[in-house]
Amino acid sequence: MTKINHLFPAQGKEHVSTQPIPVPSEQSAQAQTPRHVAIIMDGNGRWATRRHLPRLAGHKAGVASLRRVVEWASDEQIEMLSVYAFSTENWGRPRIEVDGLMRLFWETIRSDLEKLHRDGVRLRHLGRLQDLSPDIQKAVGDSVELTRNNTRIGLNVCFNYGGRAELVDAVRQIIADGRSPDTITEELIASYLYTRDLPDPDIVIRTAGEMRVSNFLLWQTAYSEYYATPTLWPDFGREDLLAALDSYRQRQRRFGKVSVPSNQ
Ligand code: FPP
Repeated sequence: MTKINHLFPAQGKEHVSTQPIPVPSEQSAQAQTPRHVAIIMDGNGRWATRRHLPRLAGHKAGVASLRRVVEWASDEQIEMLSVYAFSTENWGRPRIEVDGLMRLFWETIRSDLEKLHRDGVRLRHLGRLQDLSPDIQKAVGDSVELTRNNTRIGLNVCFNYGGRAELVDAVRQIIADGRSPDTITEELIASYLYTRDLPDPDIVIRTAGEMRVSNFLLWQTAYSEYYATPTLWPDFGREDLLAALDSYRQRQRRFGKVSVPSNQ
């Protein structure tokens, strides 16, 4: 928890609440690099269609883009990325695409794990792992275990993830644990989410020009900054990442409060 007067040093104390408020991460109000960047990697299908390729070719190009972004983010001292790779709603896509995405996920873990580990990437999975195939469950479990002590950058792969499903899972577990109504607080709910040990995202980047949240980290992004770019995910370049970071640094984060003008 950070206090608001730490975030926005004020001249007039009367304007400043001393109540702790939840903040996406512990950081000051000066220009800063976001600790936690969440990305909705959209536009793979359009990228492929424009090239008269099957949609899966777009997703493969999306994986290549993700590899690059992890390296650039690491160069920029970003602590953690959360990427939306397969939503609980994506099961409704044509069978061939769903199967292709499942295979691609599994193959990518198999082919990239060693390098990610060497590069100090800590992998985590966010979502309903139990509904994925045993092969994927094992590959994910092994990769999380292998990389658990890595500290260079965290990569949280949201695969079979849905923000509403996450809240349903949390509520079920809270009830199963016999929690009484008076013990239900924001902190308690947060402690039942897949992200229980993680800071909230500071910024959500969405590619391909859409302006939707799409069930992504609904609870955790309550106060995240939002950045949308028309660039399709496979075309997302270092300059796109830097533009998002620059935009973030110009934001004034108020967390529902008001910032105090310097003449008051
Ligand atoms: C959205 O583009 C993208 C997805 C639903 C999948 C994203 C997946 C990857 C980047 C690759 C898989 C990830 C890993 C970690 C192996 P879209 O298909 O909705 O594009 P469109 O809106 O242009 O059709």
